[in-house]
Amino acid sequence: MPAPAHLPEQMPVPVPERRSFLGLLLAAAGGLVSATLAIPLMRFATFPLRVPSEEASWSDVGKIDEFLSLAEPVARTIDVKKIDGWRSSVVQNGVYIVPTGSGNFKVLSSVCPHLGCAVRWIGKRDKFICPCHGGTFTNIGVHISGPPLRAMDELESKVENGILKVRFQYFRQLVAKKEPVG
Ligand code: FES
Repeated sequence: MPAPAHLPEQMPVPVPERRSFLGLLLAAAGGLVSATLAIPLMRFATFPLRVPSEEASWSDVGKIDEFLSLAEPVARTIDVKKIDGWRSSVVQNGVYIVPTGSGNFKVLSSVCPHLGCAVRWIGKRDKFICPCHGGTFTNIGVHISGPPLRAMDELESKVENGILKVRFQYFRQLVAKKEPVG
């Protein structure tokens, strides 16, 4: 009886795997679709983080009739809505409505441009005076003396449905140029 021939072990011959190629193609297409769908979702989810927190909102100051015949600056406290990421809060700030003649006026921030103390209107001296380091300003907020390097900061204002509104912002301190900081 002839002995069984010892055949050399056969090496597996690689066969092109069409199925795995198709699988890869499908996985890549699926990934692309998922990524495309995820972008709007991510944008929606992170919207509050992408909104610049320094974007100032409009606050009501009062009825416009109250400010049409002012003889001197008047102070008002306004509620300012702040948005920080997903959190929103309301802080109070002081502003002055300052007559500039012929029934016109402007709105000034009470925050001193030197180091941020609350500037006060002193009617009997016809000027604004900062209690912290003695900065003084005219009755329309022009710098007269003391350490502040610029005038009191004017705020953007408008009238809507008979209500005076103001866009409160903070400005960089200790600089001569008015630069919003949020
Ligand atoms: S903070 Fe107003 S003068 Fe210094």
